[in-house]
Amino acid sequence: MTLLLKATQVTRNFNVKASKTWFAKPRVLRAVNQISLELNSGQTLGLVGESGCGKSTLARMLIGLLPTSSGEITFAGQPIQAKRNAHWRAQRRDMQMVYQDPLAALDRRLKIFDQVQEPLVIQKIGDRAAQLAATREALESVGIGQDLYGRYPHELSGGQRQRVVMARALVLKPQLLVCDEPVSALDLSIQAQVINLLSQLQKSRNLAMLFISHDLRVVRHICDDVAVMYLGKIIEQGPANKILSNPAHPYTAALISAVSHPNGARGFHGTDSKLRKRILLTGEPPNPIDIPTGCAFHPRCPSVLARCKTQAPVKTMLDARHSVACHLHSGTAPLAYMPSANESLLIPPIEALA
Ligand SMILES: Nc1ncnc2c1ncn2[C@@H]1O[C@H](COP(=O)(O)OP(=O)(O)OP(=O)(O)O)[C@@H](O)[C@H]1O
Ligand SMILES: [Mg+2]
Repeated sequence: MTLLLKATQVTRNFNVKASKTWFAKPRVLRAVNQISLELNSGQTLGLVGESGCGKSTLARMLIGLLPTSSGEITFAGQPIQAKRNAHWRAQRRDMQMVYQDPLAALDRRLKIFDQVQEPLVIQKIGDRAAQLAATREALESVGIGQDLYGRYPHELSGGQRQRVVMARALVLKPQLLVCDEPVSALDLSIQAQVINLLSQLQKSRNLAMLFISHDLRVVRHICDDVAVMYLGKIIEQGPANKILSNPAHPYTAALISAVSHPNGARGFHGTDSKLRKRILLTGEPPNPIDIPTGCAFHPRCPSVLARCKTQAPVKTMLDARHSVACHLHSGTAPLAYMPSANESLLIPPIEALA
């Protein structure tokens, strides 16, 4: 495995008006706050967290669609830049994005085949025959048959459209695919099909993948690793199987406990009934304009300690690959809501979606 993408202390601020009055002074909204991460070729990293925690902002910076406020990003050893010149275009070829809304990502006036072929034409890759062959291959790989080549996006189902978006991204043979909620706009019955296809393509093409999703079931199914974000920071990161069955951060535990099961159960399972209950977070919903002092999660944390209110927790390595930023893991306090080693969390398998 080779290191493909590396982010070091990446931050993104936006100046926003906190109120609608014309004289209100702009305030700084810190959407992404000093995030560092690495992604190897062939590795899949899931990015999870509540709405507004900065997932899309981080993803857009990672692929050069949005400038950073500070920090460094490199792709295959080369600095990523958001300035749209020839170097940017060449780099972007290797990094493709699949968005939540396939209809918005497609040109309504272009037929499916032309739509998938277009990036090759724009980037002047190969001669006409090679472009036709590559387009056919990409469409075939996502299961779009020749009968659909002449149709327009609005003449396809949601699942078919998302397959076309995937073909358009794959036709350039990228090394990195960034998927931002790729199935959340699709019917439940179609979600599992598209996810399984994505997982297959990722493996067969050895793609690195950053996968943003609210759905922890999907993340566990498709991702090697998971990073949990809260108010612009990664608060826990490591192997998906491990974190989603034995979280170290109370926020991760709360996210997992909110996963609903087809049989109506939630979150934890095991002998302790407390662990089977949903962990309801108290306090105000997070606001990135007014990030709390100390640990940003402390006003809502069920296990809050005195020092959480004043001291920001630093990243602690629990083992070689599992990191957490939480005072519960830097001292001797009891780990409330933390499952013991023989407890596990039950997240229903992806097949249950079908
Ligand atoms: N261009 C912008 N101008 C001002 N604020 C912005 C801008 N883009 C994002 N934000 C703010 O930055 C924060 C993070 O937004 P972002 O879209 O990255 O969240 P997200 O985690 O992707 O949320 P969701 O799950 O809803 O997609 C939000 O508070 C959002 O309002
Ligand atoms: Mg988003």
